[in-house]
Amino acid sequence: MALMDKHKQVKRQRLDRICEGIRPPILNGPMHPRPLVALLDGRDCTVEMPILKDVATVAFCDAQSTQEIHEKVLNEAVAALLYHTITLSRDDLEKFKGLRVIVRIGSGFDNVDVKAAAELGIAVCNVPASSVEETADTSLCLILNLYRRVTWMHQALREGTRASSVEQIREVAGGAARIRGETLGIIGLGRVGQAVALRAKAFGFGVIFYDPYLPDGVERSLGLQRMATLQDLLIHSDCVSLHCSLNEHNHHLINDFTIKQMRQGAFLVNTSRGGLVDEKALAQALKEGRIRGAALDVHETEPFSFSTGPLKDAPNLICTPHTSWYSEQASVEAREEAAREVRRAITGRIPDSLKNCVNKEYLMAASQWPSMEAATVHPELNGASYRFPPGLINVAAAGGLPGAGAGVDSLVSGMAHGITPVTHPPHAPSPGQPTKAEADRDIPSDQ
Ligand SMILES: NC(=O)c1ccc[n+]([C@@H]2O[C@H](COP(=O)([O-])OP(=O)(O)OC[C@H]3O[C@@H](n4cnc5c(N)ncnc54)[C@H](O)[C@@H]3O)[C@@H](O)[C@H]2O)c1
Repeated sequence: MALMDKHKQVKRQRLDRICEGIRPPILNGPMHPRPLVALLDGRDCTVEMPILKDVATVAFCDAQSTQEIHEKVLNEAVAALLYHTITLSRDDLEKFKGLRVIVRIGSGFDNVDVKAAAELGIAVCNVPASSVEETADTSLCLILNLYRRVTWMHQALREGTRASSVEQIREVAGGAARIRGETLGIIGLGRVGQAVALRAKAFGFGVIFYDPYLPDGVERSLGLQRMATLQDLLIHSDCVSLHCSLNEHNHHLINDFTIKQMRQGAFLVNTSRGGLVDEKALAQALKEGRIRGAALDVHETEPFSFSTGPLKDAPNLICTPHTSWYSEQASVEAREEAAREVRRAITGRIPDSLKNCVNKEYLMAASQWPSMEAATVHPELNGASYRFPPGLINVAAAGGLPGAGAGVDSLVSGMAHGITPVTHPPHAPSPGQPTKAEADRDIPSDQ
């Protein structure tokens, strides 16, 4: 009954918006020329501040879920910045009353329901470029580790293993393999996938890929071999590396069925998204040696812990904590670019002024999407009247929000606000496995 009421209410609100043509203005309080921008799942706004301070008030929430976000942010934020550690489902998005734009500080945006956002009139943007090299380099690092066993040799030495005689060296380096002549299969030949392909070639890999969404010809420009089906790629790869975005069609792309299509003793690398791999099936395949080794930067449940979940006792596994994207330079670049996108949203037109809007098609299709006219309040503002409750403006000058508790912090006096969480404290039949020789005989290509 309560659920029905809520749905009716949401429907009513959406209808109201269609009638009004824009997301509803926030009522009560005087007009304020500074829209509120909130960093949802972080607390450091020092990079974003200089880019936004003359057009916006920036608050940070340090939240892991929308339940931890202060009511004021839910009611008044017009822009949200976020990393990958918070999820915004339709229900979460509906909690925000004035939101116009969400910018992911990074490339993957599978943690935001972009269709729902468009239906609610919210543009979603990403920063696609900043971590391409870091992620490709890390992917290669993991691939090389599986072949050259550096991580495990290091571990053995740490544990006091002696490796002086040739016999001992054979023992400690057992399983280390030659790369030249091996076939690397890339699933998803986007920005990172292409960067991995270029690097892998230099190491001597033959590179094949599967990406049904790319037009013909990419394989020729990059000198790679294209596989027509996922099964073809799996059958012909000695090492499979995942670089496709996670979407509604490819959850558990690597599962018990597809693992059985892989070569006996192949490697698996995933720096893309944890949801692409069924970890239970992978753990079983590692235990049985069907997969010789796996390296995962991303996991079904994050933060990852070796002590819980299906992978806890899986052998020949290297894990890193979703850090492929990170370098100091990439991090700063992503934050600067995300802040610039927010600035474009505030000072320009949504979605036309946005550089990397990922739900533009849905937005344009959503009939309620308005064309935003030039600002009336501030020459740079987005044609919207931002209304803030009186308290917010006063507090902005003082450096904290009313009602915020002891954890309130201010990075730049009067500009960036930490908001203490209110409700919760922060914080198909199986094919036979082909042998390498059988599969090598004829690698099909769809050229
Ligand atoms: N671990 C990290 O720190 C980290 C860092 C950066 C990116 N990523 C992730 O890496 C992935 C790739 O990033 P990108 O910037 O190259 O994205 P991208 O959008 O440029 O490329 C993704 C490619 O995957 C393809 N694709 C989608 N579904 C597919 C499927 N079912 N089978 C085969 N191909 C499919 C698309 O056509 C596209 O070419 C994303 O999921 C991103 O979130 C992770």
